[in-house]
Amino acid sequence: MARGAPNFVCQSCGVAHPKWAGQCVACGAWNSLVEEAAAPPIGATASKRGKGRAIPLEGLQHNGVEPERRVTGVSEFDRVAGGGLVAGSALLIGGDPGVGKSTLILQALATYANRGGNAVYISGEEAMGQVRLRAGRMGLSEAPVKLGSATNVEDIMSTLQSGPPPGILAIDSIQTIWTQSLDAAPGTIAQVRTASHDLVRYAKSSGTALLLVGHVTKDGQIAGPKAVEHLVDAVLYFEGERGHHFRILRAVKNRFGATDEIGVFEMTGTGLMEVLNPSALFLGDRSGMAAGAAVFAGIEGSRPLLVEIQALTAASGYGTPRRSVVGWDSGRLSMILAVLDARGGLQMSGQDVYLNVAGGLKVSEPAADLAAAAALISSFTGRPLPQDCVIFGEISLAGDVRPAPQAEARLKEAAKLGFKRALVPAGTKADVAGLRIDTVSDVAHLAELVGTETKTARPQLARK
Ligand code: TYD
Ligand code: MG
Repeated sequence: MARGAPNFVCQSCGVAHPKWAGQCVACGAWNSLVEEAAAPPIGATASKRGKGRAIPLEGLQHNGVEPERRVTGVSEFDRVAGGGLVAGSALLIGGDPGVGKSTLILQALATYANRGGNAVYISGEEAMGQVRLRAGRMGLSEAPVKLGSATNVEDIMSTLQSGPPPGILAIDSIQTIWTQSLDAAPGTIAQVRTASHDLVRYAKSSGTALLLVGHVTKDGQIAGPKAVEHLVDAVLYFEGERGHHFRILRAVKNRFGATDEIGVFEMTGTGLMEVLNPSALFLGDRSGMAAGAAVFAGIEGSRPLLVEIQALTAASGYGTPRRSVVGWDSGRLSMILAVLDARGGLQMSGQDVYLNVAGGLKVSEPAADLAAAAALISSFTGRPLPQDCVIFGEISLAGDVRPAPQAEARLKEAAKLGFKRALVPAGTKADVAGLRIDTVSDVAHLAELVGTETKTARPQLARK
């Protein structure tokens, strides 16, 4: 591309286009191209380059020193971050506008500051008064957080360099931060990338743990900030369903911890409350013995989590039956329906099928197959599953039920919450006091168990 030629960059995926278009050809986003100054051609600056400095090359041996962690005291947040924020690392928190990112950050910083940490909060979106108002509402006005309102990265740098480096620095949000060194408008990919790069470099050199907040677009992609995911050490998403009060913090990338970890919070009138026993929350108030409900004993990260899976099947009035899924993969539902049809002898092809994970949680574990299948069969046959039973196991295309990892942890959680029996894959080795464990070998066996099982006909479940 000629120097100075227009360069239209997609704000969603960062791909540059020579001409403006309504839709990005790379990611399909509409109306996302914005004109930005073109980068100098590769090699153009070669003549200006000086000679590089030799860097030392070293071995892989670990010196045995774990990285220093800054524990904020908000334990759900610390756990998802991998046990606190690592000094010198950068962490991006993405989420829909209004989900509660600023609330979470403020809470984490205030708790950290109350424990004696040096916390700096730079708000580019809200005025100081608004942040103070929120802090007041959350009862955190007395926390010694250093609050600043700025959007210019040079201003932020000067401010930081005038004092000792903060233990934790939060920038809310990166879409508002801009640098004078670029002509592009704030919020464009070029600005977000350059400003974030400067902040990350500052964090690395000063040992500050950096928290960046980024907004997400409707389809779940962080607009603009997607382009900085590679720059940061960890990416967390803060999610919540409309109409539900709880919020889930999920790690999608973490160089210093596990990525399947989740933290659960409840949004209250006075800020976010940590939910230390999420199973109780997701099971909620289960009432009665409706057909089509099964309790899945799942694992989210390092923690067991029980959730209810609800299914409804009804004769379809139209040519093509409806399939609707909330909280689970629709492809997976089609697969389970096909397996139930082919291997379990259940003709559900003419049925409208609805499947819902209660509470708005998203389940991605294959071990949820068996619970979903049990819920479907239960609804189809009109026979409720026993209310005190948990289920887990993966279903293969051949119709076999495969063992799932961490069976013991799942079952212990079920026993803790008062469940009395469990339906698990054949071959599962676990023995948990107070829990009757029944095994199921394939979907035909499951259909037989669920189809004949009622509250009174318990002994039939004992078949092994
Ligand atoms: P906010 O943290 O501003 O969201 P984000 O930074 O992700 O855009 O949270 C906004 C929502 O949270 C707002 O709709 C009000 C609600 N909220 C509460 O319900 N209770 C509270 O104590 C606070 C501070 C916010
Ligand atoms: Mg905010």
